[in-house]
Amino acid sequence: MTRELEEYILTHIDPEDELLAALDRNTHLYHLRPRMVSGHLQGRILKMFCRMMRPHRILELGTFTGYSALCLAEGLCEGGEVHTIEIDDEIEDFTRSYFDRSPVGDRIKLYIGDACEIVPSLADTYDLVFIDANKRDYLKYYELVLPKVRPGGIILADNTLWDGKVVTDPHSRDAQTVGIERFNDFVATDNRVEKVILPLRDGLTILWKKP
Ligand SMILES: C[S@@+](CC[C@H](N)C(=O)[O-])C[C@H]1O[C@@H](n2cnc3c(N)ncnc32)[C@H](O)[C@@H]1O
Repeated sequence: MTRELEEYILTHIDPEDELLAALDRNTHLYHLRPRMVSGHLQGRILKMFCRMMRPHRILELGTFTGYSALCLAEGLCEGGEVHTIEIDDEIEDFTRSYFDRSPVGDRIKLYIGDACEIVPSLADTYDLVFIDANKRDYLKYYELVLPKVRPGGIILADNTLWDGKVVTDPHSRDAQTVGIERFNDFVATDNRVEKVILPLRDGLTILWKKP
């Protein structure tokens, strides 16, 4: 993807609203690893998934500053909820301040803690799950969330091409690359789901839970 093509795409899709633009900008100004934020294109795609699926309940693992949670909440149907889990309590106030200012913020329930501990305690069933937390633990997250996804529901897993390291860097044995590879290899042969990898940004895997 060239910079020109990226610009072209961003000027030919729905714009991000002022609040999301400010959130993106302030994430870059005030937080470490701002690249983690979903941003304009992925945010519109997440909203579009919701428009197509009409989910009532969404679960997100890895809130960060809340950009993707807000985009998911925008696409929810009336009465729907986004449950989102973030382990880093230092960004909680920043994130909540954007939820508080958004017209869809009241559709978001933020849990602070480790997704591996919180997910098993959730009693709900979800129509859509967005996995976007620690890359080392993707397979663990997948096993934890799959029983909570309704049959016919969708799991989206972000960053599954991991900057291309899954193919271009066979000697890279860092824990995050290994975690993503283990997840990709496992789901590739998991008959409980149908799956496809979209080469969007850093790779987005879509998994459909078979009824
Ligand atoms: C890639 S960022 C999420 C970006 C966000 N979804 C967005 O699109 O703007 C990953 C986040 O997952 C959080 N995280 C890492 N391990 C976690 C865990 N075990 N439970 C919950 N959150 C976790 C990190 O602190 C970080 O904020």
